[in-house]
Amino acid sequence: MSASLQGKRVLSGMRPTGQLHLGNYHGALKSWVDLQYQYECYFFVADWHALTTDYADTSRLPVNTHEMVIDWLAAGLNPGVATIFVQSQVIEHAELHLLLSMITPVSWLERVPTYKDQQQQLREKDLATYGFLGYPLLQSADILIYRPTYVPVGEDQVAHVEITREIARRFNHLCGQEPEFESKAERAIKSLGGRNATLYRQLRRQFQESGDAAALERAREMIRSHTHITVADRERLLGYLEGSSVAILPEPQVLLTKAPRVPGTDGRKMSKSYGNTIGLREDPDSVAQKLRTMQTDPARVRRTDPGDPDKCPVFDLHRIYSDEATQAWAANGCRTASIGCLDCKKPLIERVVAEVTAMRRRAQEFVENGELIRTILAEGSEKARDAARTTMDEVRRAMHLRTD
Ligand code: TRP
Ligand code: SF4
Repeated sequence: MSASLQGKRVLSGMRPTGQLHLGNYHGALKSWVDLQYQYECYFFVADWHALTTDYADTSRLPVNTHEMVIDWLAAGLNPGVATIFVQSQVIEHAELHLLLSMITPVSWLERVPTYKDQQQQLREKDLATYGFLGYPLLQSADILIYRPTYVPVGEDQVAHVEITREIARRFNHLCGQEPEFESKAERAIKSLGGRNATLYRQLRRQFQESGDAAALERAREMIRSHTHITVADRERLLGYLEGSSVAILPEPQVLLTKAPRVPGTDGRKMSKSYGNTIGLREDPDSVAQKLRTMQTDPARVRRTDPGDPDKCPVFDLHRIYSDEATQAWAANGCRTASIGCLDCKKPLIERVVAEVTAMRRRAQEFVENGELIRTILAEGSEKARDAARTTMDEVRRAMHLRTD
């Protein structure tokens, strides 16, 4: 059975920054492309998140969203496999954000490391807004509404998934209480059938008595893959593993994306704000030109000076793009000054140009026909909304709000 059929979900989002560069690709997008074939994936454009810092001029949102989604598809995201959508087209995120705001202490939000950092770094923007403070909570709503097992993110987002887990725990504790929970949970265990019921009890005991996290995870997997129980029973069983309330919003786990260092043309980290990027769909001649003039080990002034690959940003690209043999050839040639920097760059340029060319080829039909993108996003958003509504029905019921 493939993993996606085991019901494991993955969710992640990206702010619409317009056309992506190779740093974005190796930092996140590439891992999304791999994940879509292993899990049931939801990937979305976090356009409301863009508003939390760029509220003064929102005019580029549509273009930035459009261009970024073309890049996703160019990189190999497959809308037939993964659900690709736009946050603002699934307004349920906003409802969950509102409801979670009722139970979230302001101090939790003020404590998030990015809160003060970003305010300092982006002084010109005045981020003393309500929306900016609530940013991590909006992200929590984005995540929890899909009840994913994993949230693939980079290091900078780990704190946001952490607070998401705390909020889920608090919500389940406050709102997941149900009368006669224990007897209902016991009945649910019986409905698992003999062998699974025994396994459930055993794993639950292992977790509760010795905090065995692997046992907890195994039990969760068993419950999630069990197709013959009701949604309500599944939540009782998930909640009963850990405590005495229903897990309406299960706690997701971080799936840390191991991102290689992608240097820009000036040797610093590739970043839009440094103006040192190579676009995912950039014109091949321009890519080649940028690489030819890219910063190398500054100690290698003349062709006859030996260099140090460990101090050269071009070699960082070799680590990403070249096989072992080519890397060994480049490193050795550099240290012994037996090759020049242009020689060293040549195989790299070929690989990067080939990659960018393949991206451009895949993007072409979407560039020519923008309507395709709108259709993909409309369909993806429709699917996402179905999943979000299922959760919201339960959240509303748990909070004694109308469910019709
Ligand atoms: N905050 C994320 C970023 O800036 C984007 C994001 C919004 C996100 N909601 C999310 C990522 C939910 C993962 C899950 O990169
Ligand atoms: Fe960098 Fe290659 Fe030049 Fe060495 S030979 S400095 S690794 S570009």
